Amino acid sequence: MERELTVGMLMSRIRVEEKLLLAELEKRGAAVIRFDDRVFTLDLHEAHPGMAACDVVVERCINHLRALYTLKMLGDWGVPSVNTYEVANICGDKLLTSAALEKAGVPSPRTLVAFTPESALAACDELGYPLVMKPAVGSWGRLLARVNDRDAAEALLEHKVTLGSFHHGAFYLQEFVAKPGRDIRSFVVGDETICAIYRSSPHWITNTARGGAATNCPVTDEIAALSLAAAKAVGGGVVAVDLVESERGLLVIEVNYTMEFRNSIDTTGVNIPARIVDYVLAVGRAAREGRAGVLAVAG
Ligand SMILES: Nc1ncnc2c1ncn2[C@@H]1O[C@H](COP(=O)(O)OP(=O)(O)O)[C@@H](O)[C@H]1O
Ligand SMILES: [Mg+2]
Repeated sequence: MERELTVGMLMSRIRVEEKLLLAELEKRGAAVIRFDDRVFTLDLHEAHPGMAACDVVVERCINHLRALYTLKMLGDWGVPSVNTYEVANICGDKLLTSAALEKAGVPSPRTLVAFTPESALAACDELGYPLVMKPAVGSWGRLLARVNDRDAAEALLEHKVTLGSFHHGAFYLQEFVAKPGRDIRSFVVGDETICAIYRSSPHWITNTARGGAATNCPVTDEIAALSLAAAKAVGGGVVAVDLVESERGLLVIEVNYTMEFRNSIDTTGVNIPARIVDYVLAVGRAAREGRAGVLAVAG
């Protein structure tokens, strides 16, 4: 009989999402090994024996850098992961995400980057007001600013330069899209857009972490195709895509690589953790068969 798959889970604190994924993996009979990013160390000269023993590793860290560095090493050691280092690297940086979307021809809001407060102010004038200023690295709607006029832009830039950290060294400036009191978050697993929610809010920032209310959003052909194209643009896998409805049609705002989904299971009626686990096990199985194939050829 085939040996059960060994699935690693990279994580910090166990949130609702991790609990659901662990329960689902257990249900499928996978042997699960947890790797707590507060505890393990990575020896760059030698593969981590526990991680190297996994057929596949699911990344569920809260901290981007911990996820990124660990995924990098897993990739170098030949351990498949969901998601890959390349996907985490692009999705973890809004500038790299926007660039990837643009290159793939996926419609997104007009975005400029500038490196000094003076050139950023000129870029703001060029985009026109209102506009949105975002840290390139960040999530949960934090430190996003809607800039309504030149005075506000000037003040914000001065504050960023005086008080800001390294991450404020590049200014990510985006056209403000006048959306209808909501945005759309879709969930892509492999080759399929499995479900979507509307996030409605009286505030222009619609993240559920900021009080946005989730309701089911039927996956239209347009949402399905655009979400899949956005996912492919960043390298594919298991991602959540933020979309806004604009006069020019749907635009992709960003792609998230360690998505939260607790508010979207009952809302959509789709068992998101089960779908993720299907995908993870398929990746693990394919990797194992690939390795067996290589061994057979070598033998
Ligand atoms: N250019 C924009 N125009 C209008 N609304 C925006 C724009 N960018 C972001 N938003 C709103 O802010 C939310 C958070 O922005 P996002 O870029 O996804 O950052 P985060 O990584 O913090 O979620 C989006 O879901 C959307 O509701
Ligand atoms: Mg977002």
